[in-house]
Amino acid sequence: MDFFVPIIIIGLLVIITILLIFFEQIIGGNAEKSVTINNNVKIPVQGDETVLNTLNKEKIFIPSACGGKATCGFCKFKLIGGGGDLKPTEEPFMSEQEKKDGVRLSCQVKVRGDLQIEIPEEMMNAKEYHSKVVGLDDLTHDIKLLKVELIEPDHMDFKPGQYAQLRVPGIEVIRAYSIASNPKDKSHLEFIIRMVPKGKATSFVHKALDIGDKLILTGPYGDFFLQEESDKEIICIAGGSGKAPIRSILSYLKDQGMPRKVKYFFGAKTKKDLYYTEEFRALEKQFPNFKYIPALSEPLKEDNWDGEVGLITDVVNKHCPDLTNSEAYLCGSPGMIDACCNVLENNKINKDFIYFDKF
Ligand SMILES: Cc1cc2nc3c(=O)[nH]c(=O)nc-3n(C[C@H](O)[C@H](O)[C@H](O)COP(=O)(O)OP(=O)(O)OC[C@H]3O[C@@H](n4cnc5c(N)ncnc54)[C@H](O)[C@@H]3O)c2cc1C
Ligand code: FES
Repeated sequence: MDFFVPIIIIGLLVIITILLIFFEQIIGGNAEKSVTINNNVKIPVQGDETVLNTLNKEKIFIPSACGGKATCGFCKFKLIGGGGDLKPTEEPFMSEQEKKDGVRLSCQVKVRGDLQIEIPEEMMNAKEYHSKVVGLDDLTHDIKLLKVELIEPDHMDFKPGQYAQLRVPGIEVIRAYSIASNPKDKSHLEFIIRMVPKGKATSFVHKALDIGDKLILTGPYGDFFLQEESDKEIICIAGGSGKAPIRSILSYLKDQGMPRKVKYFFGAKTKKDLYYTEEFRALEKQFPNFKYIPALSEPLKEDNWDGEVGLITDVVNKHCPDLTNSEAYLCGSPGMIDACCNVLENNKINKDFIYFDKF
């Protein structure tokens, strides 16, 4: 009799496993489900996809700079009905208010039953673009300017300051890059891309990409853009490749005749990290309203630098003692932006008028 006990247990386990697979197929996997977006569009879903992949298949491209690995926190949507509880992978990206509001990461929520979701209407406007590389120039020892021509669709409407996502062909890597060009030229986009040692996307752009290569982009994305209705004075602060969205904003303002006072601070380590200096000096000559203030934190002797020296925070503090009537656009590393926000707030800027992109 003892001989049969293990066989009976194994048999029971096999039956339970088969039943579980069967119910998974019925409840989760193959049963037809739907995702209803903004109480309006209803998408039928087969299989066990994430909300992110489901939306992508329907050509709805919400931001997903890490490609679904739960490390960027960009792919947020509001879950109105259906779906399970918040996962530990989502927790770090959610504020208490977002948790209460049912905000979730679309790469972490699977469609296992009918879902009702909300995504901002402007995100429904992001598209997938097929493009061709038409320029790849060195701006510094570690920064390149990438120019693409949009082929299909052949133009993108974007606000100065917004970004696009670039898909690295061959590997499942998607990365965000701010658009550095004038929004007036809708069929050619420029990106300023700094090499990150061992970085997947930046190694591809710096070492493998060539003129004529095809690239797939999605966009436009982001709520960091010029507030066009405002008449406040503008402070721009950037470091490294953070110059990209600021350049787009300034080219837009240039076309408007620089109607507002602008002070643009750019922080770099040494002279070899500066770029587009001539472009912004020319803008200064053309518009007395515009001031370009580059600052070096560690100038070398051979730099013969006679401009501002020191941390960008100190330089901003020196030039902008009273920011009561200003708004600020910041782009650079998280540390730089946090430090600059403190200085701006100490100097009486209304913190609702500080706009930034950290990367
Ligand atoms: C909204 C937005 C706009 C952006 N715009 C630009 C832009 O205009 N130009 C630009 O160059 N980048 C921009 N970035 C950053 C860009 O999306 C990538 O994160 C960056 O290029 C690195 O990608 P990678 O695949 O080469 O590196 P990964 O393969 O992702 O990273 C390789 C290693 O480097 C580390 N690492 C990643 N990024 C950095 C960094 N910046 N500094 C130091 N270490 C890092 C990672 O932790 C990892 O260990 C933007 C990011 C966001 C969110
Ligand atoms: S795509 Fe990056 S967290 Fe979801």
